[in-house]
Amino acid sequence: MAGVEEVGTGAVGVPSSGNTISTVLVVIAMQAEAMPLVQTLQLTEEDEPSVFPKAVPWKKYSGTHEGLSVHIVVPGKDFHLGVDSVGTVPVSMLTYASIVSLHPDLIINAGTAGGFQSKGAAIGDVFVATHFANHDRRIPVPVFDEYGIGTLGATPIPNLVKALALKEGKMSTGNSLDMTPEDEEIIKANDATIKDMEGAAVAYVADLFTVPLIALKAVTDIVDGSKPTVEEFLENMSTAAAALSAMVPRVLKYVSGKKIADL
Ligand code: ADE
Repeated sequence: MAGVEEVGTGAVGVPSSGNTISTVLVVIAMQAEAMPLVQTLQLTEEDEPSVFPKAVPWKKYSGTHEGLSVHIVVPGKDFHLGVDSVGTVPVSMLTYASIVSLHPDLIINAGTAGGFQSKGAAIGDVFVATHFANHDRRIPVPVFDEYGIGTLGATPIPNLVKALALKEGKMSTGNSLDMTPEDEEIIKANDATIKDMEGAAVAYVADLFTVPLIALKAVTDIVDGSKPTVEEFLENMSTAAAALSAMVPRVLKYVSGKKIADL
């Protein structure tokens, strides 16, 4: 099984033209993660007509902040069960539709993640992902194995990372909150510091459309710690949402008036 290599895929969304950033799309999987930020940025839920098809539960909150046009999108509630539509499938559809209708200059995928304390993660840390990879796409056939892992480098943002003193780490994505022994083996091969459920899917779509992507993930649980993941995740969810609603505006302030190459 292939792990992370310095693959020839390059970084997500490094555009050749250097326009000043004006439209930012913030993709968030859970409503509870998004609402504190919607309030901080004083965004409003869009009126009719929706940019999204009527059939979907996706929501969009928009406004201006620091001279930027900012849109927060969430995949909304599952029609059958009423819970947030987390995971890779809803977020990749949402990201696709949002790129096509809103033409963002930059995507921020904000959310929560499990962190590995052995790699320096602590509860409440906000990490920026340097690489994206998958750990639940096991295809042990030559080349398809590497496709399954799907490693992508993040858009380079060295000045932003330094200015905001952000912690950096590789991220591994899968559709489960827990971790099977098979997942663990691949996450370790992916050299991940953080583990989430959407990042690599957003990166895949951003890469298709050459849109730069910053993934900001607040740590809710320590994957290699002693507490049960679900208990720790639920306990720290609001702390993480608060950390994100403090960090995203700082990132928006920093990117305002700049080009991607300045970040
Ligand atoms: N989001 C928050 N904690 C997580 C975990 N342990 N795994 C995947 N996604 C998460």
